[in-house]
Amino acid sequence: NVPIRNICCIGAGYVGGPTAAVIALHNPHVRVTVVDRDQKRIDAWNGRHLPIHEPGLVDVVRLARDGSSEGRRASSDQAEAGAMDGASRIIGTVVESARMPNLFFSTACVETIGQADMCLISVNTPTKLRGVGSGRATDMAAFEGACRDIAIHAKAGTILVEKSTVPCKTGQLIKDIMEAHRPGVVFPILSNPEFLSEGTAVRDLMHPDRVVIGCESTISGHRAAAALANLYATWVPRSRIAPINIWSSELCKLAANAMLAQRISSINSISAICERTGADVSEIAKSVGMDPRIGPQFLKAGLGFGGSCFRKDIASLTYLSESIGLPEVAAYWQQVLTMNDFQRDRFARHVIATLNNSLRGKKITILGYAFKKNTGDARESPALDVLRILLEEGPRRISIYDPLCSVSDIKRELTVLEAEYAACMPDGPIEIVSDPYVACTDSNAVLVLTDWDMFKNTKPIAALSKPVAMPETYDGTTGTTPNDILHVNLHMEQLAINKPSKPSVPPTSLLAELASRLIPEPTCPVDCA
Ligand code: NAI
Repeated sequence: NVPIRNICCIGAGYVGGPTAAVIALHNPHVRVTVVDRDQKRIDAWNGRHLPIHEPGLVDVVRLARDGSSEGRRASSDQAEAGAMDGASRIIGTVVESARMPNLFFSTACVETIGQADMCLISVNTPTKLRGVGSGRATDMAAFEGACRDIAIHAKAGTILVEKSTVPCKTGQLIKDIMEAHRPGVVFPILSNPEFLSEGTAVRDLMHPDRVVIGCESTISGHRAAAALANLYATWVPRSRIAPINIWSSELCKLAANAMLAQRISSINSISAICERTGADVSEIAKSVGMDPRIGPQFLKAGLGFGGSCFRKDIASLTYLSESIGLPEVAAYWQQVLTMNDFQRDRFARHVIATLNNSLRGKKITILGYAFKKNTGDARESPALDVLRILLEEGPRRISIYDPLCSVSDIKRELTVLEAEYAACMPDGPIEIVSDPYVACTDSNAVLVLTDWDMFKNTKPIAALSKPVAMPETYDGTTGTTPNDILHVNLHMEQLAINKPSKPSVPPTSLLAELASRLIPEPTCPVDCA
């Protein structure tokens, strides 16, 4: 057995932070240090307000990072009665004894790597933005940088674990980097892809459906895999820990994300057919999902998938397929991305069409910017694509409200639009506001683009399918018109275009209240039956 006393996790992001915290929680005798070059991020992990929002994360981090002077006992009875404090609820039935801190956050990358028995690499691996493979290949710059740091500073025999999502055969790249800097020294390499979802990261880490560990078929490879498996086995049943071939392990993460995204694009393609035929996509999804061979998950039509993973992982899969001489396979997966873009485009154009084909002089409100509920992650939000198309129509104002995304994170995402719309950014039409009521006041259209619970039970002001009258006085260039009211409720009813939302529940929800702040419901246009 390889004894693991010191773990260094490189990258304090959405994966590195929560993963390291949960490993530390369950392995109190192992010192886990998360390192990052970003001083601000590390300061936040060491402070009271963590840099990422995940239900339960604060409790786990506090216990492992700060320790506790007395034992905590949490029984499942207590859990059911809701009588436990936050930390105990997360830990469930684990019986805790007093513990010393064993989770640390630091920018001292070199020193920490030098002391580690195991390095988890969880740095960002985005899509390349320029050069060969631009737009599809994985940008491995951060990953290679981390590997070089390890190659130079790690002790001989340190186990290297790929936690980042990487292209198949990355294990060979790591080997080459190690060999170039430390010829002849053995560094066992493992692939241990992370399957957590943002918004449920702690739950997913606490109760994973599988832990995949890929290793080389060598004695040192198997020993290293056993050492990592032992860490997980402190809280994950052995039956869920799957040792597999390292290349399979690297590829299975891309395959899992591609298949999940494919289901979303599949149901979205059906939603487009529904709109032309009068069929109802939510009824279809329900019926199709009742087939046990298919299941109900990931069958919700809407704006398509966002977030930092699905798009880039499928792009990486298409690039891989093409580079190994499989253009048909690449084209197959590319279509999943094409359908996703089509959906945003279709939605934004429908909004514009419903507002008399012009947004000049009008105000649009966007409720929800995060790519899904319960996360403050603003990366790769579907809202960005919608915004891009709306901006082309020269709206007077676009107000964005999200309950969790920080203003600075949204602004950072919008910088890509600045170049395209230099004339109107940043003093132009977009404003990010912290009050949903302010966001909706005097709005011509409210678009709900994230399925936050607070936006549930929406009350449509006017069904999308209703024709919108052009007032006689409206000259098409200035001013707002009371008839241009539209309430698009995308994620909840999915394409409201298909099916106007059901009559609202009692006006307890935020949106019901918001409705009263909008321009009043239009009088029925002449030709509206
Ligand atoms: P992130 O961007 O939130 O965090 C990465 C961190 O690594 C950054 O804070 C960055 O400063 C740091 N970093 C980069 N190079 C470094 C170096 N050489 N030394 C020290 N720190 C360095 O990324 P996130 O979202 O945590 O993703 C990490 C990996 O996990 C990616 O490969 C991603 O595809 C994968 N993944 C992400 C999931 C998610 O939901 N975000 C889920 C499953 C996998």
